[in-house]
Amino acid sequence: MRKKPYMLATDLDGTLVGDPSALQRLLQHYENSNIEVELVYITGRHFASVSSLIEIENLPKPDILITDVGAAIYTTEKLTEDTTWAKKMHINWNPERIIKLASFFPTLQRQTLPSTKRVSFTVDQNEEVVKQFEKALVEENIPHKLIFSSNRDVDILPENSGKGEALSYILQNYANEDVKVLIAGDSGNDIDMLTLGHPSVIVGNAQLELVQMKNHPYLYRATEHFAGGIYEAWLHFYK
Ligand code: GLC
Ligand code: MG
Repeated sequence: MRKKPYMLATDLDGTLVGDPSALQRLLQHYENSNIEVELVYITGRHFASVSSLIEIENLPKPDILITDVGAAIYTTEKLTEDTTWAKKMHINWNPERIIKLASFFPTLQRQTLPSTKRVSFTVDQNEEVVKQFEKALVEENIPHKLIFSSNRDVDILPENSGKGEALSYILQNYANEDVKVLIAGDSGNDIDMLTLGHPSVIVGNAQLELVQMKNHPYLYRATEHFAGGIYEAWLHFYK
């Protein structure tokens, strides 16, 4: 893949996806201004789930796809899994222990997923149980990264995973050193990529956990929603 001068690294649900006409305006802007933008999708969904979203929403095919909240990376024209990253994800990863421990927390509803690249749950607005589960994971010495989003989703990931770690890996291995990047998100699982220190946008419709996030010099808070917020931030940073 030829490296492009710009990169849009964006979450999908609630960020790029949500307002089809705003998305068209953003894509049209890229087309009209004749700039080459590398498209990186960074989602909590698993591969099959994001593939169907891309089809249903008629999204442009990404150059790079990061799924499962950063636990898997797909590159090349054919979107094949990056094996170096996959190996890294296996280090200290023990989903069975996590599943066993979670069985002591009946309010954690396990999500049905096609693999154990991550172990995810939903809770009904119960932050307390999430804290207790996290405490138990630490006490049991189970290496992990816990991400809580939208007051509902609890993702347990390999310790060196997450959207921020995965995007850093992409920037190091698949991008121009001086690539002009914009990172976009709307909920808790986006925090660790939005805080890398690169130009970033929190879209106007973001969840409370992002509204409460600390500022940094390259963090832009859009008023427009979904892709409209990305467009607003793109004009702010790059025109
Ligand atoms: C997406 C995924 C879900 C995950 C959530 C938060 O909704 O489908 O599995 O828990 O993102 O990362
Ligand atoms: Mg989202």
